[in-house]
Amino acid sequence: MAEGKTKVAVLVSGGGTNLQALIDKVAGGELDNVEIVRVISSREDAFALERAGRAGIATAVAKEQQDVLRELKESGAEIVVLAGYMKVLSPEVIAAYRDRIINIHPSLIPKFCGKGFYGKRVHRAVLEAGEKESGATVHYVDEGVDTGRIIIQEKVPVLDGDTPDTLAARVLEVEHEILARGLKRAIDDLKEGDR
Ligand code: GAR
Repeated sequence: MAEGKTKVAVLVSGGGTNLQALIDKVAGGELDNVEIVRVISSREDAFALERAGRAGIATAVAKEQQDVLRELKESGAEIVVLAGYMKVLSPEVIAAYRDRIINIHPSLIPKFCGKGFYGKRVHRAVLEAGEKESGATVHYVDEGVDTGRIIIQEKVPVLDGDTPDTLAARVLEVEHEILARGLKRAIDDLKEGDR
């Protein structure tokens, strides 16, 4: 692969704080080898689209997987980041970007992941189970739900009196850091493979 910036597409469905963390780290130089080429949302009302627009990044709404694949191809993305993307990617998308798609998940995989575990539901389940710690995981995406190879994981404590909202906020802070670190690793892996 030619030296220079790695083209990254980000898939979103909601508020987009993880996207914002990436945008800020690109602007701040921590991810200076990254160019976010497109933000693709499964919903037209996702605030993440607004964040992308403000940063001057091209956006698209793609509800069907064939549209996601078309947008990814058009964007020239080399790596795809799922940042609060609430849909399961089709086998076609996964095959087209094998080992090039990473996801951030708000638990310590293999705990509290898989079908039905997303967003606030994860934190509610962690509290109901009486866990003393939780955290976040960045992993590669394969055909399963949250089953791909783990790249990086970080823990946070569960505190007395936590609600799903307070726990989510603590986990999100960690997400914003490890997503960028996970992306760097994925870029290194990609360059290693192309050598
Ligand atoms: C994040 O906590 C992310 O880990 C989670 O949704 C939230 C999105 O927040 N993703 C999943 O649950 C995927 N299974 P954001 O839109 O502010 O980045």
